[in-house]
Amino acid sequence: MAACTSSLVSLLLLLLLLSLVAGEATAEAALNFTRQDFPGDFVFGAGTSAYQYEGATGEDGRTPSIWDTFTHSGRMADNSTGDRAAAGYHKYKD
Ligand SMILES: *[C@@H]1O[C@H](CO)[C@@H](O)[C@H](O)[C@H]1NC(C)=O
Ligand SMILES: *[C@@H]1O[C@H](CO)[C@@H](O)[C@H](O)[C@H]1NC(C)=O
Repeated sequence: MAACTSSLVSLLLLLLLLSLVAGEATAEAALNFTRQDFPGDFVFGAGTSAYQYEGATGEDGRTPSIWDTFTHSGRMADNSTGDRAAAGYHKYKD
């Protein structure tokens, strides 16, 4: 059942993507769905990456990631780094 549900949702998202690429739908309309559009046992999840979320570069023993090294090498057009990012390391309790 879980594999079937996963396949169904993947197919739904693929069809939405294809209709967007084909210009048959707007992004706003493609994202116009509710909980009822998913099977009852569908479990929603969310994810993020440490680089985009944590910040706190160099604090509490954190060592540079590949992205820290890359952005600090001066290769970013806007000079951005993940040093602060979303500051999740300091704000996670909020
Ligand atoms: C979203 O769906 C509702 C209900 O079907 C509809 O009334 C509304 O026009 C839709 N909005 C967009 C942007 O497609
Ligand atoms: C990025 O840093 C370089 C070197 O300090 C500077 O010349 C450039 O103007 C900076 N670019 C931006 C978008 O701030």
